Parts: sequence; C-alpha cells; structure tokens
Amino acid sequence: MTVSNDRLRDVMGAREYRFFPTIGSTQDEALAWIRAGAPSGAVVVADEQTRGRGRQGRVWQTPPGVALAVSAILHPPPHALPQVTMLGAMAVVALLDELEVAEVDIKWPNDVRVRGRKVSGVLPEAVWEGDHLRGAALGIGINVRVNFAGTPLADTAVSLETAVNAALDRAELLAALLRHLDRWAAYLGTDTLAAEWRSRLGMLGQSVVIHTETAALHGTAEAVEADGTLLLRDASGTLHRVLAGDVAFP
Ligand code: BTN
Repeated sequence: MTVSNDRLRDVMGAREYRFFPTIGSTQDEALAWIRAGAPSGAVVVADEQTRGRGRQGRVWQTPPGVALAVSAILHPPPHALPQVTMLGAMAVVALLDELEVAEVDIKWPNDVRVRGRKVSGVLPEAVWEGDHLRGAALGIGINVRVNFAGTPLADTAVSLETAVNAALDRAELLAALLRHLDRWAAYLGTDTLAAEWRSRLGMLGQSVVIHTETAALHGTAEAVEADGTLLLRDASGTLHRVLAGDVAFP
C-alpha cells in the first residue's frame, strides 16, 4: 500500500527517480533537476507535499499516504509543448481505462473526472534558457484514497479507490501510470494525441462558462485545436479562442 523507496525501487527498473517522503512540491524538484541536466523519463515522486500547487496559482493538497504526486521530466520539441497537458491527461485516462473505471472524461484543459468528479489534475511547467527549451516538468496528482467527506470538495472531487470500490497499491498505480506516459509520450506533437484527447473531452457541444484571468465567457464549447486552444461560440455568434481558464457548467 505504501509508497516507500523500497517499493519504488521494485517498480522503477532502470528509470532515474527521486523519492521524498515529504517535499514542498515535486514540481520544484523536477524544475531544478531539469536545470541540472535531468534525463527524459526521470521522475520525482513524493508521499506528501506541503506546498503542492495546481493550475492558476491554486493549492493542491497531498496529505501523506492517500495520493499520488508525481512530476515526470520530458524534453519535448518546443512545438509540442502545448500538448504536454494532453499527454498527462491521456496517461491518467489510460490508467483509469485499464482499471475499467466507467464514465471517465477530461474537463478542459486537464482535469480527469469520474462521473463528473475530479480524480486527477495535471500541471505542465517548462524551463527555458533564453529561447532554448531545457525541458518540461509534467506534474500529475491523483486522489487515491483522499477522504473528501465534509470538505468543500465533497461534491466535486473523488478518489480512485471510491471509483473502483477496491483498495489499490500506489506503487503499482505509479508503475502503470508511467507505462502509459511512456507510451503516449511517443505521440507528443502529433495529431494522434490531440485527436485522442479531444475524443475524451466531456464538454464539446455543451453550454459552458469559461473563467479566464480577466473575464467570464459564456457560450458553446464548439471545438478544440491541436494545441488545446478552446473555440467558444458566444450568443452573438462570435468565436473566442481561449488559451487558458476554468470551465463551469451553467
Ligand atoms: C490542477 O488540477 O490544478 C493541477 C494539479 C497538479 C498537482 C500535481 S501533484 C504533483 C505535482 N506537484 C505539484 O506541486 N503539483 C503537481
């Protein structure tokens, strides 16, 4: 059940990894490792994060013993960078498919949901040196057995063990997640990855509100482009290209 260095050594094989029982954020460690020359495929794993972060400056809670907190290091070509989010979401979706979880979808751009509740979030961050891309840290958080009862997330989040109604071994989950990441990483920057990600999006054709940093845009989620840009048609017929934001369903 536990994620410990001994268990990880079993499942990691030849992969380079760093494990921390407690860390601020696996992303910070991965970004520093990229600056120091980390190889592709290296991962940072923690049992607990004390300053885990999510998209748009939000906090991401990782209490000990109940979640997966992983940052995978990639060296994508710059044109493929926008698809790193898709890669993370598709690896989680593939993991849930393998576990035969029903009603899995992706909420744009990167939440993986089960029956409309968030089970996982993905956070891509890049390291640039001038105009040279040194690498990307793909952060993935999965709620494995987080108890959301009585918390503000009770109606919007779910744990994987609840979804499968069984106890899960986090080290084995991690091994499977990395297998799916490796498989999908081969498609980074291709239409195949974009098409598969698009096919798992749960909101195309629906009325949505997109909260961006500056505005709330109401309309129909019409399409997504290969780099993940959302095309939103408002009531006046104007098409908005939305690069980042949070989706709500009115
Ligand atoms: C989101 O949904 O807003 C993204 C959440 C990403 C959380 C993961 S947990 C591992 C990695 N380390 C972090 O500090 N964040 C990501």
